[in-house]
Amino acid sequence: MSTPTEPGRPDVVVCPGGPLLLRGDHVVEDAEGRVHRTSRPVSAVCRCGKSSVQPWCDGTHKVLPSKLRP
Ligand code: FES
Repeated sequence: MSTPTEPGRPDVVVCPGGPLLLRGDHVVEDAEGRVHRTSRPVSAVCRCGKSSVQPWCDGTHKVLPSKLRP
């Protein structure tokens, strides 16, 4: 189900030290070329590379030393 984005509201948000937040429908290609579709209202894409559910964030970035956070 598509979630319309409000005009002027970003549909991709960078969380300092954490994931990219995607609002609405997106297609994400991971490092191996696999395609992942999301239609959740908000999805979090891992930027630290340590999540066990790539390409999605599982919160692991929160326990990493600050110098390893994105
Ligand atoms: S950004 Fe959250 S686990 Fe990588």
